[in-house]
Amino acid sequence: MAKFAPPPGTSDIFPEEAPKWRNIERTAQKVFSSYNFGELRTPIFEYTEIFHRGLGEETEVVRKEMYTFEDRGGRSLTLRPEGTAGVMRALLNTDVLNGVEQRVYYYGPMFRGERPAAGRRRQFHQIGVENVGRIAPELDAECIAMLMDLLNSLGITDAKLSINTRGVAADRVDAAKALKEYFVNHIGEMCEDCANRLSGNIWRILDCKQEKCRQIIAKAPDYLDFFTEESKNYFKRVCTALDALGIEYVHDPLLVRGLDYYVHTVFEVSHWGLGGQSAIAGGGRYELYLPEQNRPVIGVGFAAGMERLLMAQEALKVDVPSDKGKVVYLVSLGEETVPANLKLAAALRKAGLVAVTEVEAKSMKSQMRTADRLKADIALITGSNELASGSVVLKNMSDGTQVEIPRDKAVEECLKILVK
Ligand code: HAM
Repeated sequence: MAKFAPPPGTSDIFPEEAPKWRNIERTAQKVFSSYNFGELRTPIFEYTEIFHRGLGEETEVVRKEMYTFEDRGGRSLTLRPEGTAGVMRALLNTDVLNGVEQRVYYYGPMFRGERPAAGRRRQFHQIGVENVGRIAPELDAECIAMLMDLLNSLGITDAKLSINTRGVAADRVDAAKALKEYFVNHIGEMCEDCANRLSGNIWRILDCKQEKCRQIIAKAPDYLDFFTEESKNYFKRVCTALDALGIEYVHDPLLVRGLDYYVHTVFEVSHWGLGGQSAIAGGGRYELYLPEQNRPVIGVGFAAGMERLLMAQEALKVDVPSDKGKVVYLVSLGEETVPANLKLAAALRKAGLVAVTEVEAKSMKSQMRTADRLKADIALITGSNELASGSVVLKNMSDGTQVEIPRDKAVEECLKILVK
């Protein structure tokens, strides 16, 4: 069995699982279009520099997790580790830099070379949105509202929303200095990752999960004191808008997020159903620079991990509606009945039903077993007698009743039973 396993951290999604994925995609489409967002599809790989510049050289994703390869022309390409940078690259072909708002959503596979665990994959799927071109705290709040609407529509209750502000680059200079002064005196008692972050991205120390570090982090200076009034007001307005929308949240000053492009608002949603990997979705406002650009693209957005949405639905035992059609199985008793059944199956499909024809001369018993396995709603049985008399036996699989009907009435009869 292991011989046919896909590479570590990737999975096959079989037809039985696929309806749950489609349910998420369709629900998202409905929620996002109610906010006037349209779908954007971008390539699965981009020039590597899009991610280096877009996400920041210092981010863990860029330093350690990217799947990078060279194409035949010697260009460096990377499988997208997230959606935002590629979406910005595409939107630079519009008027976003002149403040013309673009509202887009996307979904599809992303790739990160992380250590696989439950809910942590190397190929995973995100569903995300980006509202690009304008800045206003109320847009940030509406973006968060969209995420909460999505979770509600998917039956994901008990989701916990945390928000924070990262200020703007200028706010962070003195704040980072104050944090450094504090942590330098405690670094001996902290973990190795924190020690490395002291000289790299000091903000990442704040979301270290190690208990010994957390005790020290809890007493760190309140960096918000160093932010300008303007930045503090921006955050206040986000909170006011969330309150107006009736969205519950906690302000978590230790929420910094792992990507470097964030400014002002950042947020994350966690859920108990996910175990160790508790973040179901994350996002925030950003200023993202692409290669050869001295002006950033601005926007606000989020991405939710589809595997994690499914995990939360499973933990909550959400009943996902099946989108499978009604199935009619055509039993063919004798080779000579097959062409007539192929023709009848085509007519059933035209009428909107799912039709499966048996094309081999198997026994009645074996064909009825197949009908059960396919969870057929109706079996239409044709033997040489029925063929000769232009009839067919209709077996209703839900109650086991059986009637012989004229062949040219078969579609009509099936619809009568199956389409209520
Ligand atoms: P992120 O927090 O890196 O943000 O990822 C968003 C979500 O993707 C996570 O909350 C998680 O549900 C899922 N995810 C991330 N890595 C994995 C993995 N290895 N396995 C399974 N699921 C995973 C971003 O990607 C930003 N681009 C979000 C954003 C959009 N910010 C602004 N706009």
